Amino acid sequence: PAMPGMDHGAHAGHDMAAMADAAGGVTLPEGQPLPPLQRLANRGGGGHVSGELVAAPIKLPLLPRHQPTTFWAYNGSVPGPLIEAYEGDTVEIAFTNRLAQPTTIHWHGMPVPAEQDGNPHDPVPPGAERRYRFTLPKGSAGTYWYHPHPHGYTGQQAYMGLAGTFIVRRRDDPLAHLPEQLLVLSDLKLDGDGGIAANSMADRHDGREGQFVLVNGALRPALALAEGERQRWRLWNATSARILKIALPAHEVHLVGTDGGAIAAPRRIEHLLLSPGERAELVVTGRFGAGQTPGLVALPYSRGKAMHPEQDAVLPLLTLIRHGRRASAPLPARLAEVPALPAAAVKRRVEFSENMADPKAMFLINGKTYDMARIDFEGKVGQVEEWEIVGNAHMDHPFHLHGTQFQVLARTEDGQWRDEPYLAWHDVVNVAAGESVRLRFRQNLPGLRMFHCHILEHEDQGMMGQLLVRA
Ligand code: C2O
Ligand code: CU
Ligand code: CU
Repeated sequence: PAMPGMDHGAHAGHDMAAMADAAGGVTLPEGQPLPPLQRLANRGGGGHVSGELVAAPIKLPLLPRHQPTTFWAYNGSVPGPLIEAYEGDTVEIAFTNRLAQPTTIHWHGMPVPAEQDGNPHDPVPPGAERRYRFTLPKGSAGTYWYHPHPHGYTGQQAYMGLAGTFIVRRRDDPLAHLPEQLLVLSDLKLDGDGGIAANSMADRHDGREGQFVLVNGALRPALALAEGERQRWRLWNATSARILKIALPAHEVHLVGTDGGAIAAPRRIEHLLLSPGERAELVVTGRFGAGQTPGLVALPYSRGKAMHPEQDAVLPLLTLIRHGRRASAPLPARLAEVPALPAAAVKRRVEFSENMADPKAMFLINGKTYDMARIDFEGKVGQVEEWEIVGNAHMDHPFHLHGTQFQVLARTEDGQWRDEPYLAWHDVVNVAAGESVRLRFRQNLPGLRMFHCHILEHEDQGMMGQLLVRA
């Protein structure tokens, strides 16, 4: 499949004009204190988390000189309310769809039964209600989120504001003593009137990127940190398409957890690639030294050799304000057991590709576009599978699998296989343009599970397949 580069350039030009337009009339206030996440009112207790979610349009006064902006929100809040539970809890959510489109709630990354997972086969029609119910097994502690998953509308419903966070905690959490900051990174694209802009042609190709990357709905908010203080940060990349290479220059950063929970031991890192849908847990230690530091930033990252857009400047996300000095206890040496999955009984190959020549089937998995009626693979409960995700494409595509967590074994870099330096539980992994990733997983529950690119515009256009897990 050839990449019509010139055609693409034309779209990019068109998009830039639209952006300049938008930027002309629209500026968001910045620098306010980091807004806390709204929490779901929990009517449960004693091992039960029980609450209500309503998806409906709301108007938020975003811009001082414009009409309020219409969002679609869970319980009137963007991001949607935080749901917190402990391993072993039963979660019951009464959901009402007050949108004009069908929707679902997908519990991204969580080991919930297939029929409770809000996949495209179980839409909730406009005006309808449904109850989601599941029990969180032991070992499921981690940083998750929920968002709509109706086929063809996921991207739009997410960029209109429908996404919320879900934390599963464990009773013996070795980092429970640290102050915790929750940081939801999202993307906002406004038109010149302060409304949420529709997707351009370039958005449909490259994935939607707006003028603003927000943290908890605010532009470059500020957070206080003391010299020497340790804080635990949970980060969500809830953007539709931005691959964020995040860094905290000057400060000490340890990776302590990935999508599906703690890694075995803290790892000192300089930066971390967080692709759309992905989460991470960090421990940040304040090291201001003599002066100002840039705070949380996204470093330049090129997500494919031939594709626009590339992020070529440092993007500031969050300002850190020095607030005194504090001594902190050392980090625990061990965080969790992360046993390696045994050798696989089944091996499969999943190849991403693009065909820009066919507007009806641009984004492909193994040469095919998503078909709800087609089973791409059949597996078995408890069986270890090894998948090689082949990035035979011109741009990066973050791979996501429903229903379980996987371990990355190795990935290629400039054509060479490199073993992954540590074990971790993921449900999203970026597959860079022209590179491949080898991973292993086990599905512990039967049913139909999706796997797809988590650039939501690609998913909506069919870069998705189905794994039927048999009991
Ligand atoms: Cu975050 Cu299939 O989705
Ligand atoms: Cu998911
Ligand atoms: Cu993609």
